[in-house]
Amino acid sequence: MSDVLELVDVSVVRDGRALVDDVSWSVKEGERWVILGPNGAGKTTLLNIASSYLFPTKGSVSVLGEQLGGVGTDVFDLRPRIGIAGVALAEKLPRRQTVLQTVLTAAYGMTATWNENYDKVDEDRARAFLDRLGMTEYLDRKFGTLSEGERKRTLIARAMMTDPELLLLDEPAAGLDLGGREDLVRRLGRLARDPYAPSMIMVTHHVEEIAPGFTHVLMIRQGKVLAAGPMETELTSRNLSLCFGLPLVVEHQGDRYTARGLPLG
Ligand SMILES: Nc1ncnc2c1ncn2[C@@H]1O[C@H](COP(=O)(O)OP(=O)(O)OP(=O)(O)O)[C@@H](O)[C@H]1O
Ligand SMILES: [Mg+2]
Repeated sequence: MSDVLELVDVSVVRDGRALVDDVSWSVKEGERWVILGPNGAGKTTLLNIASSYLFPTKGSVSVLGEQLGGVGTDVFDLRPRIGIAGVALAEKLPRRQTVLQTVLTAAYGMTATWNENYDKVDEDRARAFLDRLGMTEYLDRKFGTLSEGERKRTLIARAMMTDPELLLLDEPAAGLDLGGREDLVRRLGRLARDPYAPSMIMVTHHVEEIAPGFTHVLMIRQGKVLAAGPMETELTSRNLSLCFGLPLVVEHQGDRYTARGLPLG
């Protein structure tokens, strides 16, 4: 199987500090990865590298077979092949655009500028993705008026619009209530198990947010990889405790995970 993402000895250094420290990591086609790690660990920085928006200080990166910074690699050809849903993007999207427009503009590589000349085909696709995320009732609502959960679902639909080969989700369940989280986990689970869905990388802080169908986990702490590999072997109490720096117990029940701290003493 070909590599979706390949990082070799990658570091990102800012102000003399390594935000990402000598990371080697490869994602193969069909794999669905979760990135776990505490605040400031470097998770979003890794996604920014994977999305080709951040060039590392050191090391080599290839995304969807294209070497970043390599001869013949044009990031502007590469970027439409990658779908991104994250906070940084949400802040760039105009609040006054409708939900349908917000998703539809992705097909044209834009965050703004609505004109009326969109293809019917694209509009149908946007509607279908929104429907898949349970957003059909919100098509005409202004993006800026959505709740956190509705906004997250809109962003995922938007990320799917260019038919990406790689889908990057940065904390898609953050800020959702219990029902919203469970709803999103179910939808992401459906996507993760769909053999025609893109390769996926999802950043989260909580093992409860890992949808069934995700296959691999990368744990990162202070920019360094602590563990990387299949979920069954790597998502252990020991690894999670090392990752978050306190004694934790992780339990696997059915197709979901939970974690909690051990009582002190
Ligand atoms: N441009 C920058 N210059 C200096 N430091 C930066 C820059 N961008 C990020 N950082 C720092 O790099 C570290 C990693 O940031 P990153 O956003 O990747 O963390 P994260 O794992 O996504 O954290 P969180 O869980 O809080 O979202 C943080 O300490 C952050 O303050
Ligand atoms: Mg982050």
